[in-house]
Amino acid sequence: KFKIITIDGPASSGKTTVAKMIAQKFKVPLLESGALYRFVTYLLIKSEKSIQTYMENEDLLINFLKEAFQKVKIELTSEGTFIYWNGKLIKDELRKEEVENMVSQVSANKKVREFLTEIMRKLGKEDSLITEGRDMGSFVFPYADIKIFLTANEEIRAQRRLKEKMGKVIYKDKNLYEKVFNNIKFRDKLDSQREVAPLIIPEGAYIIDTSNLTPEEVLNEILKIIK
Ligand code: CDP
Repeated sequence: KFKIITIDGPASSGKTTVAKMIAQKFKVPLLESGALYRFVTYLLIKSEKSIQTYMENEDLLINFLKEAFQKVKIELTSEGTFIYWNGKLIKDELRKEEVENMVSQVSANKKVREFLTEIMRKLGKEDSLITEGRDMGSFVFPYADIKIFLTANEEIRAQRRLKEKMGKVIYKDKNLYEKVFNNIKFRDKLDSQREVAPLIIPEGAYIIDTSNLTPEEVLNEILKIIK
């Protein structure tokens, strides 16, 4: 019925949750593009040289990525995107604070984006795909059949992220809430202001404000669009 559905939006707007529900419903693979950007950030943090060094030296960066990705296997299922490096699943590492703090700087890099965009377009050549991120409908898959853009107000998004991290909302821990809130604002700002493929509402996208909607309600809105 569809080949590609893209879901874009700012941090914690509910993309991953709803993308997974759609992928499971239609039994199609889910490409979580953020996982790839987080993975590259993780690799750069782990390497001997500083991120800054890579950001300032294109050749060094490209060689690093090419070499590292020879040992990478990307598996797409309706449960999500699984990245194996040297045979090991890299998952919890991608959610660490140091990755979260650096990922938007790394994602703003033109070479990093070119490298990952090529990989993602190859993945999209196979069968149907649900994909979520920041530039899926605008830049990576502009020819997608259906484009969705999710939004939600900042406070609600910060609370969602906190809940995801802690299992429950701890209103009392003001410091942690503020940390999460600031990280979301910081990444949104960098993601929307970067030169290459910034976070924008793709042309022809359906916009859904999820602030007051449950994941099921968002899913239903999207199912109406698909039909
Ligand atoms: O789950 P959350 O929305 O917080 O993050 P994510 O989707 O895992 O993306 C993490 C970061 O990767 C974003 O803040 C962007 O800087 C970057 N990203 C990007 O630049 N382009 C994409 N298509 C997806 C993610």
